[in-house]
Amino acid sequence: MATAEDFRALGRDNVNSVESILADDAIDFGNLAHTTAVGGDAIFTWDYERTRAGLAKLYERAKTSQWNGSTDLDWSIDVDVEAVAREMQATIMHLRQRLTDLPNSPLRSWSEDDWTKLAVEAFNWRMSQFLHGEQGALICTAKIVETVPWIDAKYYASTQVMDEARHVEVFSRYLDTKLDGHYPVNPALQLLIDDIIGDNRWDMTYMGMQIMVEGLALAAFGFMHMATEEPLLKKLLRYVMSDEARHVAFGVLSLKEYYEGLGGDEIRERQEFAFEAALRMRDRLMMQAVWETCGIDRKAITEMLFEIRKPGVNPFQAALFSKIVPNCKKLGLLDAGDGWLRDRFTDIGVIEYEDAPDTETEYALLDAVADDRAAASA
Ligand SMILES: [Fe+2]
Ligand SMILES: [Fe+2]
Repeated sequence: MATAEDFRALGRDNVNSVESILADDAIDFGNLAHTTAVGGDAIFTWDYERTRAGLAKLYERAKTSQWNGSTDLDWSIDVDVEAVAREMQATIMHLRQRLTDLPNSPLRSWSEDDWTKLAVEAFNWRMSQFLHGEQGALICTAKIVETVPWIDAKYYASTQVMDEARHVEVFSRYLDTKLDGHYPVNPALQLLIDDIIGDNRWDMTYMGMQIMVEGLALAAFGFMHMATEEPLLKKLLRYVMSDEARHVAFGVLSLKEYYEGLGGDEIRERQEFAFEAALRMRDRLMMQAVWETCGIDRKAITEMLFEIRKPGVNPFQAALFSKIVPNCKKLGLLDAGDGWLRDRFTDIGVIEYEDAPDTETEYALLDAVADDRAAASA
């Protein structure tokens, strides 16, 4: 087993190396298509017995909570993009202030118009990354249908494939009809998705997608939903969150059972995978492409983001890890093997949310579709 000393996360000598982060950020995934190898075997099971009650319950709920992106959302609503962008920027004013206060900060001369331009670009960028991430979820979950050995999980995963197609559809439509600007996939996000798809162990697809990527997405959708009053986006996010909460619960339920049967070395490999995924997501949140569009050099902003890092002011928005950390804890990954993952999450400043609600218990509370149907029939 590798020790903490010889494990080089992402192959880096130093996980905070600005050069490594910028080198990854410069990878071009093409304009029209990107191909990557899929790892693992398709498994046919001849055991059709329904033995997993938690997954069966989730599957029943998924069947009754389907919604239609064409008819359940009001696409005739006009969107004031600048107003929505400013609502979102208002939630991170402390970061804006910290970056401006740095010695020789190029942001000192920025006008309110410059900040609004950044806010609009960041809105386009976030929605673009949601779109690309949703396609990643679509492809990963189609892989899970093939590779997971349990019939109850194959049934559930098939409903998630439909959910993800709907998510790609609605984010794409919002970007095309309400915003004017798309961004290509963030390289840190695509590198992570490629790792998830390429791994030949079936549970790693769940760990990477349902626990890490969807855990972060669920938190990010929640923050955007709270920040905005734009009615189309608000309802879109609320409905997507209903589905995402089920997806994360699917990951927690499946992996909890599987990890109980794994040995120490195997658990350690899962901890390392979780940590590398967390680093990729931290790197993706720096949105260098947006800053560059607004005239700030990629290297300069990356260094500035590290400079303002201190307890209580985390530029990587630790709150975005508020679903990931408790779910890793529930899976037993945080404290296994002398707390290796706890130490790593502490190093990168995201441990504080370990006791936030885990998603196995919270998904039913987030079912907006069931709530709306109940209200309509009351
Ligand atoms: Fe999704
Ligand atoms: Fe999802």
